[in-house]
Amino acid sequence: MMKVQICIIGGGPSGLMLSQLLHLQGIDTIVLEKYPREHVLGRIRAGVLEHGFAELMREAQCGERMDREGEIHRGFDIAHDGRLDRVDLYKYSGGNSVIVYGQTELTRDLYDARDRLGGKVLHNAEDVALHELMSDAPYVTYRIGDMTDRIDCQFVIGADGFHGISRNSIPSGVLREYEKIYPFGWLGVLSQTKPVSPELIYVKHARGFALCSLRSQVLSRYYIQVPLTDSIEDWPDEAFWAELKCRLPEAVAARLITGPSIEKSIAPLRSYVAEPMRYGRLFLAGDAAHIFPPTGARGLNSAASDIYYLYHAMIAHYKKGDDSELDGYSQKALARIWKAQRFSWWMTMLLHRFPDRVAYEDRLQEAELAYLFSSETAMRLLAENYVGLPF
Ligand code: FAD
Ligand code: PHB
Repeated sequence: MMKVQICIIGGGPSGLMLSQLLHLQGIDTIVLEKYPREHVLGRIRAGVLEHGFAELMREAQCGERMDREGEIHRGFDIAHDGRLDRVDLYKYSGGNSVIVYGQTELTRDLYDARDRLGGKVLHNAEDVALHELMSDAPYVTYRIGDMTDRIDCQFVIGADGFHGISRNSIPSGVLREYEKIYPFGWLGVLSQTKPVSPELIYVKHARGFALCSLRSQVLSRYYIQVPLTDSIEDWPDEAFWAELKCRLPEAVAARLITGPSIEKSIAPLRSYVAEPMRYGRLFLAGDAAHIFPPTGARGLNSAASDIYYLYHAMIAHYKKGDDSELDGYSQKALARIWKAQRFSWWMTMLLHRFPDRVAYEDRLQEAELAYLFSSETAMRLLAENYVGLPF
C-alpha cells in the first residue's frame, strides 16, 4: 500500500504536466500509466501550441527545448478555389502567435523533467480502479504484471484520455454527455521531407479537406479527409500523395516534396463534452472530459487550461486551506471548453466536405469563407480563437 496526496490516472501530456507543476510546489503525486513509455511517445498527435500552453511548460521548467526548437508562427494559409489566402494571426489577434512543437517532443520533455526530479510514474498499470470517490479518503487499485497494489490519496485526477476508466467510474446518471460525430476522419502521414510551405495550409476542396502541417523544416505532417469506412491499408503512400496533390492549388502541388511515410494513422472526427468535470474527489482533465475535432488545434490546448485551473485550485487547497477554486473548477473549465468547442466546430464546418448535405448548405459554406476574407471583424474572430482565449 502507498500513500500520496494526489493520484493521477494517465501519463499523457495532461497527467505529466500536472504532476510536474504540483511537484515544484511541494505537492506529492503518483502517475499511473497503462502503457510503456515508448508507446506513449510513439503517438503522433498535436502540433500547434498556444501561448498559454507554452507559458505552462515554462512554469513547469520544461520549456527550454520548446523555446529552442519550436517555431513561432504568426499566420497560416487557407487554400480554396485554386488560390491561397493568408490568415494574419499576429495582426488580427493584437500581436499573438502560436508555436509549432510536436506533442511527442513535449511529452518527452515532461517525462525527462519527471525523471530529473525523481517523480513517480508507474507504467504498465492495468486494471486501474477508483474507489470511495465520494468520501474524504478515496483510493486507487491497480495491477502491474502479477503484482496488485493500492494507493491511498486525497484526490484522484482522471487524465486518462477519451478511452480511460476515470470518466466511466462516475455512476451513470451523474454525467451529462454532449456529442457530435462527423461522417469522416483524418488520414495523417508523417514524412522526413521539407514541408511544402513554411506555414500551415488548411485546404478546402471539392474532394475534401486537407492540411499541410509540419514538425520542423525537415519533418512534414500532412492530413487528408477520408470516409470513416477507409483504413490505412486503402492508402499506400503513392495514393496518399496523389490525393493530397489533387486537393492543393497547382502551384503548391508542383513544389510538394514526397517521401516514404514514417507514420500513418486515421483519426475519426468527434466533438464531445462530459459535464460536470468533478465527482466527489475525482477531477477530470483533458481528453478524459472532452474531445475536439483537430481542425482548430484545440484538444491539447484545452487540456492545458484544465491543468492550469486544477493546478491553482490545488495550491489554494494545500497552501491556504481554500477550496473555493476546487469547487468552482468544473464550471470555470467548462466555460472555456465550450468556447473552444464552438470554434473547432465552426472551423470544421467551414473547411470540410459534407457528402450528405443539400446544395444550399454548400453555398452557405462558400459564403462563410468569402465573408471571412472580406471582413477584418471576421478575421479577428478567427485569430483570437486560434491563438487561444485567455485562461
Ligand atoms: P492523452 O494524450 O490521451 O493521454 C491519456 C493517457 O492515459 C495515455 O497515455 C493513455 O495511455 C493513458 N490511459 C488510458 N487509459 C488508462 C487507464 N485505464 N489507466 C491508466 N492510464 C490510462 N490538439 C491540439 O491542441 N492541437 C493540435 O494540433 C492537435 N492535433 C491533433 C491531431 C490528431 C491526429 C489527434 C488524434 C489529436 C490532436 N490533438 C490536437 C488533440 C491532442 O492530441 C489531445 O487533446 C491530447 O493528447 C490530450 O492529452 P491528454 O493527456 O488529456 O490525453
Ligand atoms: C498537426 O500538425 O498535427 C496539426 C496542426 C494543426 C491542426 C491539427 C493538427 O489543426
